[in-house]
Amino acid sequence: MKSAPPWPAAGTLLLVNREHPLLRAPESEELTAVDRRHPDILLHRRAKVMLDELLQAAGAKGSVIPVSGYRSQREQRQIWDDTVRERGLRFTRTYVAAPGCSEHQTGLAVDLGENVPDLDFICPCFPDSGPCRALREKAADYGFVLRYPKGKEAITGIGWEPWHFRYVGWPHARIMTERNLVLEEYLAWLRTFPAEGAPLRYRAAGRSFEVCYAPDGHLDALEALLSSGMPCQCSDTNTGGMVFTLWRDAG
Ligand code: DAL
Ligand code: ZN
Repeated sequence: MKSAPPWPAAGTLLLVNREHPLLRAPESEELTAVDRRHPDILLHRRAKVMLDELLQAAGAKGSVIPVSGYRSQREQRQIWDDTVRERGLRFTRTYVAAPGCSEHQTGLAVDLGENVPDLDFICPCFPDSGPCRALREKAADYGFVLRYPKGKEAITGIGWEPWHFRYVGWPHARIMTERNLVLEEYLAWLRTFPAEGAPLRYRAAGRSFEVCYAPDGHLDALEALLSSGMPCQCSDTNTGGMVFTLWRDAG
């Protein structure tokens, strides 16, 4: 089977960074307002639902607020240009992705901040205490990862951003957080679980997951898996391959 897969060519594991510009902007119907108080901040529908649940679970509704969500290419360009002008190129390169290379353009990233006056749009206040901390600690349970952690700057190409959360979904967020892997590292690791070999197996919350990777044009091995009727999700990686996540009851 060499033709395009019959699944939507998108997903929660898209890698977007300096080396991997986003190839396809989300459709407008994939996006929705993050909440009624912030109608101009849009997120991918699934990310919005899970962010709501995360804020609720962390007791952070109202005290932690969305600052930035989906950005078009034009908006990212404007943010880049304004930041260079106001704060210089070095600061901008550290905290703003080049236009086309921002994962905000996927609709899967959200900047959150403590609800204080005069919140900085580029670097919102996100202390490691109170509701912000509670949210960070629960993020993985709701499919979110801290995308730009301290110590991984050389890999992500971006400075430490405690405010920037990325929706990658379940169980990926849990695995990444447990293993302290950023998305670049996680996808490189998943490539060692090709679809025709043994999958990555992960058990949590009474479920058993199998995760594997299929390079572009190598989807034959998946036919058997998919015809088994197991629930399956697939995600583009934006790096020339797809990740398949299958799950079954642990039994
Ligand atoms: N602040 C992140 C890196 C962005 O601009 O996408
Ligand atoms: Zn951000």
